[in-house]
Amino acid sequence: MQTIPVNTNPPYGVAIGPGLLKDCGRRLREIIPPCHMAVVTDSIVGPLYLETVTESLKTAGYTVSAYTFPAGEGSKNFTTLSAILEFLAEEHLTRTDCLIALGGGVVGDMAGFAAACYLRGIRCVQMPTTLLSAVDSSVGGKTAIDLKAGKNLAGAFLQPAAVLCDTDCLKTLPPAVFADGAAEAVKTGVLCDETLFALFEDGTLKADPAEVIARCVAYKAGVVERDEREQGERKFLNLGHTVGHAIEKCSGYTIPHGHAVAAGLAVIARASEALGWAEEPLAAWICACLRKNALPVSAEYAPEALAEAALADKKRAGGNITLVIPKKIGLCELKTVPVTELLPVIRAGWEA
Ligand SMILES: NC(=O)c1ccc[n+]([C@@H]2O[C@H](COP(=O)([O-])OP(=O)(O)OC[C@H]3O[C@@H](n4cnc5c(N)ncnc54)[C@H](O)[C@@H]3O)[C@@H](O)[C@H]2O)c1
Ligand SMILES: [Zn+2]
Repeated sequence: MQTIPVNTNPPYGVAIGPGLLKDCGRRLREIIPPCHMAVVTDSIVGPLYLETVTESLKTAGYTVSAYTFPAGEGSKNFTTLSAILEFLAEEHLTRTDCLIALGGGVVGDMAGFAAACYLRGIRCVQMPTTLLSAVDSSVGGKTAIDLKAGKNLAGAFLQPAAVLCDTDCLKTLPPAVFADGAAEAVKTGVLCDETLFALFEDGTLKADPAEVIARCVAYKAGVVERDEREQGERKFLNLGHTVGHAIEKCSGYTIPHGHAVAAGLAVIARASEALGWAEEPLAAWICACLRKNALPVSAEYAPEALAEAALADKKRAGGNITLVIPKKIGLCELKTVPVTELLPVIRAGWEA
């Protein structure tokens, strides 16, 4: 078991290792006095892990109630948010109480946003159960819901009080959901260093996810500490996401986030080489790594459709778009270009 510190204001720790859910009550008692804990989870994670968490919290002296919503991105909306907030009010949670997000990125975003809104903000503990939420969404304090106009369009920044990442949970993940998380982890490897990137090539991710999660979290923690509100450096975490979001949108959100980000990462890596910003064999290296982790390296939508989807909001704002360009493993660059430049970039990296 290891704990990665995140020195935001206030600071918190990300504990990573096996058996953490069983022990969550005792661990939380070290930082949160007895109170009412409202556990928010989804219809797949609940039957698997809610009882373990509830038992542990009760044994540690907490009052526990739970709210479960239907699993999936389709629940990340105002209806679910409203239902959670009403539930918290019915349960009479006060500002000294706490919300727990038990699940993947959807639960983390939903519960995090509810915690940020309820009584203008109560504590939230993240217990990520997918690889994606472990390496990415549970850390950093971004929360959001989707609007009809697009994904993640309403949200808040709320740093969690703690993150407990029980690596045993990854054992029940369907392979495609595991792969989604691998995409964000490979993205971090490209941003971070060759040591992390190499772990995806030698199979460490499957064999020892805790090692990869810890490295990804440590990298993200550093970025978030320096740029909590995404004014600058945090933009690097969007590597692969401009095209990735466009792919998600073109698919009507039937392609999951991680798969779309993988294809988006492949497109931008090939474009970077083709336009002379990176040297071979960067794209081949990244694509091989994505394939090895059961991820796609191409997009089935035409460059024109992708550019249009990516620029739908940006065009209205006018002007420029900031792209994250991989130059080599461990070195990326932010390039702000006129929106008209996006289509040629996507064309340069597009492959059917
Ligand atoms: N806030 C952020 O910084 C941030 C960052 C990246 C992604 N996100 C968001 O995260 C979401 C994607 O997260 P996700 O990929 O974890 O999706 P998810 O939460 O929908 O989980 C994927 C599926 O796996 C199931 N599941 C979760 N844990 C399981 C387990 N241990 N065993 C078996 N099944 C399990 C879920 O019920 C769901 O059906 C997107 O909405 C995305 O926008 C947020
Ligand atoms: Zn992402």
